[in-house]
Amino acid sequence: MLKKALACGAIVCFMAGYAALSSAKGTGLAKGKQLFQSKCILCHGPQGNGEGPAAAAFNPKPANFTSKSFWKAPNIEATMAHVIANGKVQMPAFHNLSSSDIQDLIQYIKATFEPK
Ligand code: HEC
Repeated sequence: MLKKALACGAIVCFMAGYAALSSAKGTGLAKGKQLFQSKCILCHGPQGNGEGPAAAAFNPKPANFTSKSFWKAPNIEATMAHVIANGKVQMPAFHNLSSSDIQDLIQYIKATFEPK
């Protein structure tokens, strides 16, 4: 389990480096989309439902952004910002994201996956 998580972390680092090289363009939702695709889909999945290719290695599972109850949690956006910056249990921290990157990510995730 830990080994899998570490291997997964290494892939994320590699992808983060790639994203850093290819970023610096695009703002707002476009930036959020690019960040999500490079840093989050491995675990949270392309559909944002927590079923990414690495999801099976985690317990608790990566959060499901398509679930109504996810968005009902109090102060959800503040919680998301905190977890992205600091990690949570098996979710890695993304120390190299700026607070504006984190806001772009949250706005993209909300606009794309929150059930209407
Ligand atoms: C290596 C796998 C992995 C990656 C990559 C990952 N996550 Fe997670 N994420 C998790 C896991 C596992 C949890 C569940 C943590 C828990 O509840 O203990 C989680 C939970 C979350 C939560 C819910 C926190 C809460 O308290 O409800 C948010 C928001 C989140 N992730 C956002 C992101 C974003 C945004 C990215 C990309 C920048 C990302 N995650 C990348 C594994 C990952």
